[in-house]
Amino acid sequence: MGTMKILILLLLSALLLVTEITAQHLKQRRDLTEHERTEHHRFDDVEKWARVFEDTARDEWQMPNEVIETIGIAKGTVIADIGSATGYFPVRFARVATEGQVYGIDIESNLVDYLNARTAREKLPNLKSILGDPDDPKIPERVDLVFICDTYHHIHKRGKYFENLKKYMQPEGRLVIVDFRKGDLPVGPKDEMKLAEEEVVRELTAVGYRLQPNSAQLPYQYLLVFDLNVNRPE
Ligand SMILES: C[S@@+](CC[C@H](N)C(=O)[O-])C[C@H]1O[C@@H](n2cnc3c(N)ncnc32)[C@H](O)[C@@H]1O
Repeated sequence: MGTMKILILLLLSALLLVTEITAQHLKQRRDLTEHERTEHHRFDDVEKWARVFEDTARDEWQMPNEVIETIGIAKGTVIADIGSATGYFPVRFARVATEGQVYGIDIESNLVDYLNARTAREKLPNLKSILGDPDDPKIPERVDLVFICDTYHHIHKRGKYFENLKKYMQPEGRLVIVDFRKGDLPVGPKDEMKLAEEEVVRELTAVGYRLQPNSAQLPYQYLLVFDLNVNRPE
């Protein structure tokens, strides 16, 4: 075979290989959900996010003590914080629910490790961080309170997710959502990522949660308290 023919054959083989690799890559991309493609590794840089989430300047507008007072956390309350990240709220919950249990659920293993190390450092035996799945928080027991701060919009297929969540809640359990209001705010994500309060209420009432009144007044966020709309005997 002449050198030219060998070169053409080599070139064709290389072309076939590149086409196959590209096809496989495109298939893998199609198999990933939009969430996994765009958001899954957004929280990789733990130290950076710890500086953002735990910034003391946040306390001024996040008003964690007022949030805890509004929700009404007791010594024995069992709580799951979904999207616990570096522990801003779960650490504070654990300091109040000293005879209860707090689970910090996150889908990023580095954040779970970070929070468990923080728990040991700050001696909070009643706080444990657990790796959840994007579609199932895998809470180890039924809880009195599920708390979700600035994370609701990260959850995909929310109808199914919140339907499934009920199995981790006590019949009298409550679900609290804190998230940024729509509009141009000095803090929080871009407007297009945010969900209006009415949208959250519509989605959750559609799958059986019932909105309860509360007195929270946060400068940039809404705080919604739901219970399970179960029929209780008179
Ligand atoms: C904006 S951060 C909120 C952090 C925290 N709640 C706070 O107030 O400081 C969103 C967090 O939710 C986590 N997350 C995203 N989707 C999730 C899901 N389906 N289940 C649990 N955690 C999720 C992310 O890994 C990230 O730690």
